[in-house]
Amino acid sequence: MDQYVSVTPAEATQARDGVIKLHGAEGFEGMRKAGRLAAEILDALVPHVVPGVSTQEIDDIVREMMLRGGGIPATLGYRGYTHSCCTSINHVICHGIPSDKKLRDGDIVNIDVTPIVDGWHGDTSRMFLVGDVPMKAKRLVDVTHECLMLGIEAAKPGNHVGDIGWAIQSHAEKHRYGVVRDFCGHGLGQLFHDAPEIVHVGRPGTGPQLRPGMIFTIEPMINIGKPHGKVLDDGWTAVTRDRSLSAQFEHSIGITEDGCEIFTASPKGFDKPPY
Ligand code: MF3
Ligand code: CO
Ligand code: CO
Repeated sequence: MDQYVSVTPAEATQARDGVIKLHGAEGFEGMRKAGRLAAEILDALVPHVVPGVSTQEIDDIVREMMLRGGGIPATLGYRGYTHSCCTSINHVICHGIPSDKKLRDGDIVNIDVTPIVDGWHGDTSRMFLVGDVPMKAKRLVDVTHECLMLGIEAAKPGNHVGDIGWAIQSHAEKHRYGVVRDFCGHGLGQLFHDAPEIVHVGRPGTGPQLRPGMIFTIEPMINIGKPHGKVLDDGWTAVTRDRSLSAQFEHSIGITEDGCEIFTASPKGFDKPPY
C-alpha cells in the first residue's frame, strides 16, 4: 500500500523514503512563485536560441535571470553538476551539459531550468527550434508536447500514476515513437527529486493513486526511434542508442480537488514552438 503524509512547509524539506507528500496552500503558493520564474526564464530565452549561440552562453543567461528573479539554480552543485540548466540537442535525451558548442541551423534543443525560490523548486523544460528545422523533427516536437498535455489531463484525483503513463505511451506509440523509460518525472517541492516516480509509460489504474496536494513533474522524453538510451562518459549526457532524435517537455504541477494546477505555464503563451 502506498503511503501518503500531509506536510507543512517545514516538513516538506525532509526526505521520507518512498512516502508521498501532500502539500497545503502554502506549498502551492511557493510552487506558483518558483514555477512562474522558471516559465518566465524560458519565455525570455526565445530570442537567444538562434544559430551560432553556444549552450554555455544560454547557461550564463539562465543563471543571471534566476539570480535577478530572486532564485538560485537548483542544478548548480547538484550531485556534482556545475551548470544552471540542461541543454539537450537533437539525439540527446536529457541532461545535456552546456558547453562552448554552438547551436546550428536545423537543431532542436531542450532547455531545462529549475530555479529555487524561497526553498521551492520550479522545474520545467521546453523544446526550441533553431533556424529552419526539418518537418520530421517538428512533428516529433509537436507530438511530444501533445504527450505532456495528455499526461496532464490524466493528472486528477482518483486517477493513478499509470493513467498518466498510459495517456503518454498510447499517444506516442500511435505515432510509432519510442518512450524513454530510463528517466521519469518526480515529486518535488522543497526537495528537487522526491517520491513518487512518474513513469511515462503504464497501464490504466496502476501505480500510486493521485490525491489533492501531490506536487510532481511530468516530463516525457520521446524518440523518433527506439526508447533505449545510454549515458556518455561525462556521467550526465543521455543519448538515444540508435542516435534518433529525441524531444522533451516538462511541467511542474499540483493535484487539486478537481484536476491539477500547472505551476510552470508560460505567461506569454509560449507553450510549444514556433514561439
Ligand atoms: N531538471 C532535471 C529534471 O527534470 C534535472 C536536472 S539534474 C542536473 O529532473 F543535474 F542534470 F541538472
Ligand atoms: Co524534472
Ligand atoms: Co527539469
